[in-house]
Amino acid sequence: MNTARSSPRVLVVDDEADLRELLEITLLKMGLDVDSAENLAQARALLAQHEYALVLTDMRLPDGLGLELVREVSAAFRNTPIAVVTAYGSTDNAVVALKAGAFDYISKPVALDQLRLMVQSALRLNAPASETHSAPAPPSRLRGESAVIQALRAQIARLARSMAPIAITGESGSGKELAAREVHALGSRASKPFIAVNCGAIPEALMEAEFFGYRKGAFTGASDERDGFFQAANGGTLMLDEVADLPLAMQVKLLRAIQERRVRKIGATVEEPVDVRIISATHKNLEKLVDEGHFRQDLFYRLNVIELALPPLRERLDDLGVLTDAILERLGTFDQKVRLGPGVLEALRGYSFPGNVRELENILERALAFANDGVIEVRDLALKGAKLADTPPGYVPPPQDVEGMDAPAWVKSPQAAAAAITATYDGGNTINSTNAMPSPAADVPHVQMPPLPVLDILPSNLPEYLAMVEREIILRALAQTQYNRTQAASLLGISFRQLRYQMQKLNIQEPES
Ligand SMILES: Nc1ncnc2c1ncn2[C@@H]1O[C@H](COP(=O)(O)OP(=O)(O)OP(=O)(O)O)[C@@H](O)[C@H]1O
Ligand SMILES: [Mg+2]
Repeated sequence: MNTARSSPRVLVVDDEADLRELLEITLLKMGLDVDSAENLAQARALLAQHEYALVLTDMRLPDGLGLELVREVSAAFRNTPIAVVTAYGSTDNAVVALKAGAFDYISKPVALDQLRLMVQSALRLNAPASETHSAPAPPSRLRGESAVIQALRAQIARLARSMAPIAITGESGSGKELAAREVHALGSRASKPFIAVNCGAIPEALMEAEFFGYRKGAFTGASDERDGFFQAANGGTLMLDEVADLPLAMQVKLLRAIQERRVRKIGATVEEPVDVRIISATHKNLEKLVDEGHFRQDLFYRLNVIELALPPLRERLDDLGVLTDAILERLGTFDQKVRLGPGVLEALRGYSFPGNVRELENILERALAFANDGVIEVRDLALKGAKLADTPPGYVPPPQDVEGMDAPAWVKSPQAAAAAITATYDGGNTINSTNAMPSPAADVPHVQMPPLPVLDILPSNLPEYLAMVEREIILRALAQTQYNRTQAASLLGISFRQLRYQMQKLNIQEPES
């Protein structure tokens, strides 16, 4: 900007004098310079004269639609975010404006707290860029040189500058979460939290409390006030992962929160404003779920403003080299670099990667365990069809260990899984809440309903005690399956995603091998 020391300048476009005045006063109080226009013609004239840090326009103007201005500004003044003021309840306008390139929208009657949040977020957009002007952009974490990945990176860079909800689709392990993190990291919200929530793993009864938080005493066990995901992500980004798994009742509440940009803690009397960018992701076909009545059309419409589709790895095998190099670099240690032996890349090229990049990571990580001197050979890959005869004890073939992939049939059947386990009961293992691992290969018999432990004393904090018990059980299942989470989940009769969620929640980490 050429006027370095002066305040950022904002253009307000509205034909209603009252509203224009309210917006002007609020913005002036925020220390901004304000110009105003009553129609598109005046707005265009002002845009030609000044550089604006933000344009705020009404949708209906005497000489046309605010939408026209949205299109013009986002095409001709790429550094100027433009937001629209929409009539109350007109979801359609907001979504159309966001699709046309609006940075954000605010609905009438304009809530001043929300207006301030929006303006601050718009002003942050250009601030970091000018400070770090000469510094080169950090390399994207989304690796790959294929045309589709390059286009994706460009799209992410554009989307990072707006508030528009993004719906990310793609097969399991294709990089949906990575893409969401990238959108967050490149935008004005980067310094604020990024919270990813696995919607499929939260027990339905806890959902409202998890999303919106609760007040002290709101229900039995609510001994302290607690924030939910929305408050935790305030100012930042909330990723609704596996959004297709949201129960219908929760979909209604989420839609409201997203539309109103306000949430109410359980037990609270007032709502609080939240400034959260929503990114959703799923590997399911949401449109189909809408048709079948399992997903609400209105929420779908709200979430699906901009689509970001991640291609499966098998459709961009040209990226294998770059991806493999990046993974090997990470797997190597200070004194040992990991390399691929002859023919390995070709062998990988012949594979279809149902578990995508994550499966590639798993295959290489596992292969490294069998490799000599850090050189991975074709036989170490144990790809489908490869001989597993020389497998050392404890080895589990990769496809069953791929996160998010459907486990093979035998893992899904608890009986079969139990039969595959030698039952030797380790009676000495007592429950403890430390981070210590339970003794590793102690296989415990596996029944649907083991007897309840008989307690001589009662816990004074039941939730904490139950968490401790749960932690212990999960650690045992993990130890028993050599940390194969697909198998451990199956042992415990829960989904892979539930296990992953509980592990995150209980802070159970895989041991560094
Ligand atoms: N283009 C890429 N470059 C580098 N690493 C990648 C890329 N895509 C994915 N990965 C890596 O692959 C793994 C899986 O990615 P991510 O968790 O984002 O996938 P996902 O689509 O969210 O999977 P799921 O459907 O199981 O939730 C991560 O370790 C991620 O860092
Ligand atoms: Mg994911």
